[in-house]
Amino acid sequence: MSLILSIESSCDETAAAVVESGSKVLSSVVASQIAKHAVHGGVVPELAAREHLKAVMPVTQSALREAGVTLDDISAVAVTQGPGLIPALLVGMNFAKGIAQAHDLPLIGVNHFLAHIYGAFLDSDLSVLHQKETYPLLALVVSGGHTSLLLIDEDGSARQLGCTIDDAAGEALDKGAKLLGLGYPGGPIMQKTAETGDPERFDFPRPLTGGAGRALSPENLYNFSFSGIKTALLYHVRKAEEAGENDEQWLHDTAASFQRAVVDVLVRKTLTVLKNYPVKTVVVAGGVACNAELRRMMAERLPKKVSLRIAPPKYCTDNAAMVGGIAWHYFKKGEFSGLDIDSFARLPQIVKVPFI
Ligand code: KG4
Ligand code: ZN
Repeated sequence: MSLILSIESSCDETAAAVVESGSKVLSSVVASQIAKHAVHGGVVPELAAREHLKAVMPVTQSALREAGVTLDDISAVAVTQGPGLIPALLVGMNFAKGIAQAHDLPLIGVNHFLAHIYGAFLDSDLSVLHQKETYPLLALVVSGGHTSLLLIDEDGSARQLGCTIDDAAGEALDKGAKLLGLGYPGGPIMQKTAETGDPERFDFPRPLTGGAGRALSPENLYNFSFSGIKTALLYHVRKAEEAGENDEQWLHDTAASFQRAVVDVLVRKTLTVLKNYPVKTVVVAGGVACNAELRRMMAERLPKKVSLRIAPPKYCTDNAAMVGGIAWHYFKKGEFSGLDIDSFARLPQIVKVPFI
């Protein structure tokens, strides 16, 4: 049995977890800074770093306490290395290095993007990761920072088929909600506002899906673009304001139609991959995977022969359990990071995943 203590601080959640042997989450503590950033309408990196600095120690202590263990029981320390906000990442990284050094524990730096995918395998039987029938596996990672389709083969090799060429899906929902005066973060509020709205009342564009008679260039077959939907929303709001049509029902219908457009693009792009590759499993990961409409539409529109895995919402948004879970696969192989590792801001090219 190996217990990994993990720390996550890539954006606006300070998180720590204790995970046993890659799957059993003994504790997962998340301290959200949302209220601090909401007044600024988005995440302020320096503010995030200062909040991490305050929260990282108590959050880690809570994670150990809730798991009923002490540092003496821990086999390794895992930490998010990137991508993310550098000032924020550095806090978690330094803290993890300090623990590793003081307690003579191996350190494992983890890619946050891959950790999101791994969230779909927490608290479950990991044998599925080693079964031939699971692959090719297509991971759609949709968060505030990413919108990406990663194809993973049974030997662990991976390649990104496409990604967003401008805004991420979560970013589009966040900016859209801001435009509608709904607040921050936009995804959950947009979902709530959309619940009593008509998703078919307004027709927002579905960029890069070859719709509206526009030819889709081959290089954009699996790419996403969300900035056009956002601009369409801006004009939609202006028009309604001028006409005095922006009543309560208009707001709900707008949120529902806007959310539908974003979700529809995500589902359509996934279906395009399924048409061209013999995909056996689809994993939807990242904060936007919490979205009830996305979860429902994926289940509804994906062919039944494809196995769909979406993590429970608590492992979709940023958390440290996904970091500690994936780290175990490096731990097993003795692949540790040196105490001199650096944090990184941007997603490097992914050619391999560690969990197969
Ligand atoms: O994975 P995450 O917590 O952080 C990043 O790595 O970016 O994702 C945050 C994103 C935000 O854009 C947020 O609005 C979105 O996930 N999100 C949602 C929902 N919950 C969070 N989007 C749509 N529906 C939700 N229920
Ligand atoms: Zn994330």
